[in-house]
Amino acid sequence: MQGGHSQRCLSQDHILEVEDLCVSYERQKSRLFEKEDSMQVLHGVSFYIRKGEVLGLVGESGCGKSTLSRTILGLQPRYEGSVRCAAVRPQMVFQDPASSLNPAKRVGWILEEPLRLNTGLSAEERRQKVLSMLERVGLEEKIADRFPRQLSGGQRQRVCIAESLMLEPSLLIADEPVSALDVTVQAQIIALLSRLQKEMGLAVLFISHDMRVVYQLSQRVMIMKEGRIVESGDADEVYFHPRHPYTKELLEAAGIEWEEEKAETDEETDGTAEGKGTDERRQADASEILP
Ligand SMILES: Nc1ncnc2c1ncn2[C@@H]1O[C@H](COP(=O)(O)OP(=O)(O)O)[C@@H](O)[C@H]1O
Ligand SMILES: [Mg+2]
Repeated sequence: MQGGHSQRCLSQDHILEVEDLCVSYERQKSRLFEKEDSMQVLHGVSFYIRKGEVLGLVGESGCGKSTLSRTILGLQPRYEGSVRCAAVRPQMVFQDPASSLNPAKRVGWILEEPLRLNTGLSAEERRQKVLSMLERVGLEEKIADRFPRQLSGGQRQRVCIAESLMLEPSLLIADEPVSALDVTVQAQIIALLSRLQKEMGLAVLFISHDMRVVYQLSQRVMIMKEGRIVESGDADEVYFHPRHPYTKELLEAAGIEWEEEKAETDEETDGTAEGKGTDERRQADASEILP
């Protein structure tokens, strides 16, 4: 059976709804009389993303994260279940900026291309948009004249982010966007994504195998194991009161401490909420748990 993509959203404040998604890959026959079989990679994945929110997806390498992002973007021809997306042009940022940028073109040309293909803007208007986007992602104007190979890894990822935002999408899928970068550059790119997401009211599916990285950006998170979502919820809830053994395993491996479930008293509840907004609390918590 074939699944379906549609633009109809069930709920008004959702930008994406995925329901009961199953994806299998055909396994090639390795011997003559071997039966052709398939390997199921996603098993009944269901979730939603609200407009303007960051949803984190964590899971170890090979659990199906990229398969999920490709399916959402319509790049996976065969699947079961449904993907309902209200975003007009969902965009993707990949792990490896070197291979996703055309090596033969200068950055200015690369950033202009979506405008050339999709808008009726004049050459001068396109140029202005490119320059203002460069500024927005923290790159100097002169970067427009460089080739991708002349940039550092962090600069290249900034160019990829700029490219993905040229048409002002309402949904961005960031598939391990900082996994190839070293830790200092990672932090800069996360800060950039966080700022842009707020400024532009973007909804983001932020994918990583790194529990710490996901916490820094996500309001809600999903934990994936072997193609299934085993736990999901508000980030603070999942990180500090994990329920599933696998979530606990990932937290432990990342050296993040959580509180074991215990009955809360009214006093405790009042105490934690006192005088602190969620963002403020997140920042404080993040600095405690992050290196
Ligand atoms: N095009 C493909 N054909 C066959 N198997 C694939 C293909 N893409 C991914 N896989 C397999 O599907 C599983 C999930 O891969 P992937 O979605 O890339 O996981 P992740 O992004 O979490 O590392 C892996 O076992 C991988 O080898
Ligand atoms: Mg992947």
